[in-house]
Amino acid sequence: MGKWSFFLFFLCLSLVFTAKSWGAETIPKARTMAELAARYDSSSCRECHEEIYEQWENSLHARSLYGTGRTAPTIITSIEKGLKRWPYSGVKDTKDIKVKHLMICAKCHLPQLDEATDDVAREIVETLYTWKRAIQEGNDDLADEMEEKLNSLNIGCLVCHQKKAIIHPWVDGPVDRKAVYGSKSYEHDFEKFPMVKKAPALGESIFCGQCHGLGPNFELEHPSQCATLYGSYLYAYIPEGGHEKCQDCHMKKSGLGHDMQAYRDENMIKMALQVDVDAMSYFWRKNKEEGIIPLAVVNVEILNKAGHVIPDG
Ligand code: HEC
Ligand code: HEC
Ligand code: HEC
Ligand code: HEC
Ligand code: HEC
Repeated sequence: MGKWSFFLFFLCLSLVFTAKSWGAETIPKARTMAELAARYDSSSCRECHEEIYEQWENSLHARSLYGTGRTAPTIITSIEKGLKRWPYSGVKDTKDIKVKHLMICAKCHLPQLDEATDDVAREIVETLYTWKRAIQEGNDDLADEMEEKLNSLNIGCLVCHQKKAIIHPWVDGPVDRKAVYGSKSYEHDFEKFPMVKKAPALGESIFCGQCHGLGPNFELEHPSQCATLYGSYLYAYIPEGGHEKCQDCHMKKSGLGHDMQAYRDENMIKMALQVDVDAMSYFWRKNKEEGIIPLAVVNVEILNKAGHVIPDG
């Protein structure tokens, strides 16, 4: 055998090994937004989980790149005023943006982006900028189209019930892509995901804590900080004697189920604050000209009853 055939032999061998380990541990990267959206599509769940779907659809989880209309422009600001200006970010132009750059937001706003190629990161950025331009030019149809495209990527059913469902894979095993995760294991009446498997922490605060923030995200190449509410839950609410979980307040007591809400919902505001007002009036003689003027003493005590600091983010 000559030098070349040896080389080819080892090349093939290494390709076989790469393909094998690749097949076993990672899933192929999505190459377009549509491919990534299809992988995490929630619409197939609607047929049987109609009420949950409608609740979820109304929540900010269903539009986690667009948010209330603030998230999309803030990502653009992070690119313009952050990534492009930072000398060592590797981003001079939007064309240079890779998955790792968007991950400073997508870690929580779109965790499944780690299953996509850099082309998808650039397609998201292009969609964001087209949306912004359409708004500026008053092109409502195009703006709506881009908003819808952004919202095709979201924190859908499978992000919570599969991708983020297992927090301790060394104990509970890696995520099974053919299953959905819930409170216990049983057969799922849906051939695409034939099993419901148990996610031990789905009903615990730590589950939400994965995205609702402890502080700076030190594990990223360049740490970012947005939501920090889980930190205050752990270090303020629990030590003060609080004993409710995120799910208790946001899904159960609120009666909102999967429509997890905060201050935009009236009932959440009622749950949030205890306001005690104590007032008294008295008369005060100021001077001859002005005579007696009524004065008041008002004591207002506001107690935060949420399980964490408010506001956050
Ligand atoms: C053909 C009907 C059908 C479809 C489609 C379907 N499910 Fe289900 N699913 C069920 C039934 C029935 C149960 C049993 C419990 C119940 O009634 O809620 C269930 C249970 C679950 C559970 C377990 C809840 C728990 O803690 O016990 C999860 C999680 C779940 N489904 C997620 C999904 C997701 C995500 C999708 C879409 C990818 C989906 N399902 C699509 C019928 C369906
Ligand atoms: C995969 C990450 C992720 C997980 C898991 C997650 N969230 Fe969120 N959540 C977000 C993001 C991102 C937003 C904000 C989206 C936006 O507006 O841009 C959000 C928004 C919210 C809001 C609305 C906040 C507002 O300003 O109105 C509430 C409430 C909420 N989440 C509660 C929960 C609870 C409770 C859990 C656990 C059961 C949970 N979330 C799990 C990422 C997550
Ligand atoms: C640690 C997870 C995490 C990271 C990283 C993160 N966010 Fe957030 N973000 C959240 C959560 C959770 C909320 C929901 C509300 C809250 O608690 O403030 C949120 C809320 C927001 C909001 C207000 C949402 C609205 O709809 O009004 C904006 C804007 C935002 N994030 C932008 C960003 C940008 C831009 C980045 C990247 C530079 C980023 N976030 C990084 C988790 C995160
Ligand atoms: C932000 C994370 C999150 C998203 C997104 C999400 N779920 Fe859930 N889901 C939960 C959590 C947490 C529980 C468990 C609540 C508990 O037991 O305290 C749950 C419970 C359930 C249950 C069983 C109990 C019940 O409430 O009836 C079903 C079925 C379910 N989810 C289906 C879905 C479907 C279908 C979607 C998409 C339309 C979806 N979920 C989206 C977090 C999520
Ligand atoms: C004791 C009940 C309670 C618990 C426990 C609780 N929350 Fe809240 N949360 C509330 C109330 C009430 C509000 C509405 C107040 C507001 O938004 O200003 C709120 C607001 C929020 C907001 C919006 C913050 C903002 O900027 O106003 C998010 C996000 C949130 N909660 C997520 C969580 C997560 C995640 C957990 C668990 C780590 C959790 N909550 C635990 C009651 C609770």
